[in-house]
Amino acid sequence: MDKSKDLHEGMRLKLDFRNVLESQVGTEKGITIKAIENMEDTVRVIDKKLKNDRAEGRLQFMDLPYQEVVVDKIISLANEKASNHENFLVIGIGGSTWGSIALHTALSHPYYNLLPKYKRGGKPRFFVIDNCDPDETAGLIDILDPKKTLVYIVSKSGATPEPMANFVKFYGIMKNSIEQYAEHFIIATDEVDSVLRRVAKEEGIRCLDIPKNVSGRFSIFSPVSLFPAAVLGIDIEELLSGARYMDKICNESDVWQNPAYMFAVLEYLSLTKKEYNISVLMPYSRKLRHIVNWYVQLWAESLGKKESRNGEIINAGSTPLKAVGAADQHSLLQLFNEGPFDKSITFIKIGHYENEVAIPCLFSGYNELEYFGGHSLEELIKTEQIATQLALTHYKRQNKTILLPEINAFTIGELIYFYELVTTVMGELLNVNAFDQPGVEEGKILTYALMGRKGFENRKKEITNKLIKEKTFIL
Ligand code: PA5
Repeated sequence: MDKSKDLHEGMRLKLDFRNVLESQVGTEKGITIKAIENMEDTVRVIDKKLKNDRAEGRLQFMDLPYQEVVVDKIISLANEKASNHENFLVIGIGGSTWGSIALHTALSHPYYNLLPKYKRGGKPRFFVIDNCDPDETAGLIDILDPKKTLVYIVSKSGATPEPMANFVKFYGIMKNSIEQYAEHFIIATDEVDSVLRRVAKEEGIRCLDIPKNVSGRFSIFSPVSLFPAAVLGIDIEELLSGARYMDKICNESDVWQNPAYMFAVLEYLSLTKKEYNISVLMPYSRKLRHIVNWYVQLWAESLGKKESRNGEIINAGSTPLKAVGAADQHSLLQLFNEGPFDKSITFIKIGHYENEVAIPCLFSGYNELEYFGGHSLEELIKTEQIATQLALTHYKRQNKTILLPEINAFTIGELIYFYELVTTVMGELLNVNAFDQPGVEEGKILTYALMGRKGFENRKKEITNKLIKEKTFIL
């Protein structure tokens, strides 16, 4: 990338990995420069393969940030719908909802739903059902007026039990309450076929396309999450511009020039050479707490695999763990500092927060209170992040830092694309298919069978017989 023309340099995400190296955490616990150098050729081979896969359409998620026509369609539909409704309800699960939740939490007002409508820019209040918890659904039915609610159903397969059950429930409610009920629904589903697409056609419901070759957790830059973001007033063009910028930064084949390749290599070395099988992501911002949930799903579902791509049993993966600074300094940090050496920790450090929040000079003579005077909450949280980083390094715990200049649509686009690339490269390093989820599918099939879906009768018999024969141990 030509840095002299880098218009976005000030908003560039950076990776500081000093504290994973042996020079900082000691030979026994740290990674050596030599070990990284030994990975250089492997990374070049992976780079070549990924570029080839992308050119042949096998990594369609990487091209999502470039789809101008789709974006125009999303923005115009969002503009048409946003101001007509008081409430916007998204129904989905997993990769179909984490992106929308993460974008909203990162980029909207922290108390968005409590703001008066004019302070929300005329946009509707936002709700998500990503479960089949009867108490939660009943709670929403209590508060949402069908006449004032737009429902967005997201399911690529159109067959996942939790969102489909909620879809049927809400469709029934709307049908019984309003005349033009179909207009209160929008569906996003597989672009080629799914039962939802057929239902949409029959019922006259507007439908957005989820690209065939993009799995749920890699679909955040498709209508799956872009439509909700646009309805809620998030600048999706800036978001995609950030993703494209990260794509350019990560076009380098040299691990020393490419932050996503370096990050994946460090995670891989921590896992395979040091047996650090827990990967912690700890942003120092509550606004990024759901970005971490999105990352947890991406990392777990993409990399946790029984078989390698050659069919060997390898039970691969590392366990993603969520922590949020500074709150988890008073919870998980004790374990991180003094517990087993099984974690690699990544901070997300924020350059500038949107608000500073000055602390007044009060309580003179009270040591515990007076020293805050003249400082700000921004200073405090930044200091806490540095203190935690120093403490971990002191305890010889590998830690690295992603520096995010500020939280805005552009930098969040960078961050998301960065993690999608890291996960893809990690899949290559571990030699697993990062884009399937056979373990999740098995759970879905068992639910179909037990709930009496047609075509799964034999499976139901098999499970029921097994359950009857098994001894129970219930106290
Ligand atoms: O990432 C994935 O592929 C999964 O988490 C899916 O998003 C999740 O299982 C929901 O699937 P669907 O969108 O088909 O309802």
